[in-house]
Amino acid sequence: MKEVIIKSEKEMLDFGFSFGKKLLSGSVIALVGDLGAGKTHFCQGVCQSFGYLECTSPTYTLVNELVSQDIPVFHFDFYRMKTIQELWEIGWVEYLDKDGIILVEWADIFPEAFPANTIWVKITHNDRGRKLTIIYP
Ligand SMILES: Nc1ncnc2c1ncn2[C@@H]1O[C@H](COP(=O)(O)OP(=O)(O)O)[C@@H](O)[C@H]1O
Ligand SMILES: [Mg+2]
Repeated sequence: MKEVIIKSEKEMLDFGFSFGKKLLSGSVIALVGDLGAGKTHFCQGVCQSFGYLECTSPTYTLVNELVSQDIPVFHFDFYRMKTIQELWEIGWVEYLDKDGIILVEWADIFPEAFPANTIWVKITHNDRGRKLTIIYP
């Protein structure tokens, strides 16, 4: 487990970028934190580390597929999903089998959907900024 304090949105982007640089294809990253915690900023940093400069929150779709660079990034948001059935219907299991990086915002809505090798990133506020708690498998 690792804890990091992030003091600004720029720091969040930079941290996501360096975190992304260390990931191998096949990594699954589960993000947990309230609305406005900084999940999307973290994801944007990760996406940029794989060469995707345009990376917007998939809140109005269930998954953004970024596939134009060497390593694909699949950016999910579970916020609007009502049942785990929807996850099976969009092919979650097939995504887990693909080469690439899986990023999931609101992952704690269906924690049971994640494989054992998932890296969990929990974001909370404290008086010094956002606190990231990273739990490695
Ligand atoms: N330390 C920080 N890290 C990330 N975002 C921050 C930070 N401090 C303030 N913010 C602001 O908080 C909001 C985070 O939004 P976003 O990344 O979309 O969160 P989420 O996806 O968790 O809802 C943005 O408006 C951003 O400018
Ligand atoms: Mg978001």
